[in-house]
Amino acid sequence: MKKLGINVDHVATIRNARGELHPDPLTAAKVAIKHGADSITIHLREDRRHIKDSDVKKICKNKKIIVNLEIAANFKMLKIALQNMPDYVCLVPERRKEITTEGGLNISKNIFKLKKILNILNKAKIRTSLFIDPTIYNINLSKELNSNCVELHTGKISRLVKQKKNFSKELIKIKKCAKYAKKIGLEVHAGHGIDYKTAQILNPIKEIEEFNIGHFIVGEAFFDGIKRVVNNFKKILNK
Ligand code: PXP
Repeated sequence: MKKLGINVDHVATIRNARGELHPDPLTAAKVAIKHGADSITIHLREDRRHIKDSDVKKICKNKKIIVNLEIAANFKMLKIALQNMPDYVCLVPERRKEITTEGGLNISKNIFKLKKILNILNKAKIRTSLFIDPTIYNINLSKELNSNCVELHTGKISRLVKQKKNFSKELIKIKKCAKYAKKIGLEVHAGHGIDYKTAQILNPIKEIEEFNIGHFIVGEAFFDGIKRVVNNFKKILNK
C-alpha cells in the first residue's frame, strides 16, 4: 500500500491571510489523519510565510500524528527540528523569493553540511529524506550521505501533465530513478505539484512508497467542502 503524506502549509497560508486562528493547521492535520492520511508534512520556511514555530510545536506534540518536517539544510533549522522531534525530516532547498520549492537540493554544493545534518538526525532516530531532482547522480550522493529516503521532485512531470504536453521522457526518468534508488537501499518518495491525474500516472511505479501532496489537496478540499459549509449556513440562517 502506498503511503499518503498531506502537506498542510496552505491551511496556514489561509489562516495567516486573516492574522487570526482559523483555519488551524493542527485541526486540518487531525481531520486528514482521521480520514486515512499516513503522515502530515509541514514546511517551516525561514521567512515563516505559512507554518509558524508554534504550529511545529503543537503538531509535533500530538503523538497521534506522524510528522514530516521539511526544513532548509542549515543548523538553525536543525536545532528547531531536534527541539520538536518530528518523526521524519525532509531536507529541501530554499530560496527566499521563490513561490514554492522550485527544484531539488544541490547536493554536491552542500555536501559537507548535508552530511553533518543527516548524521545528527540519523543519530536522533529521525527518518531522513533528501528532496532531489530525479537523477542517478543525486541518488548516488544521497546514498553516500546516508539518507534513509529520497523524495523525487515531481514538479516537472506535474507541470507537463497539467499543460497536456508529452511527459513520457520525464516519466521514464522518474521510473528509472525510483527503481535504482530502491535497489541501492533507499526508500523512495515523490512530491510536488501532484494532482489526481499525476497521481494516477505515477502510482504504477511500485518502488515509490510515499506520495507527499499539499497544494492540490487544499485547493480541491474547497470544492469538495463548500457544499456542506453553504448548507450549514443555510440551516443557521433559516432557523
Ligand atoms: N514535497 C516537498 C519536499 C515539498 O517541498 C512540497 C511543497 O513544495 C511538497 C512535497 C508538496 O507540493 P505541493 O504543495 O505542490 O503538492
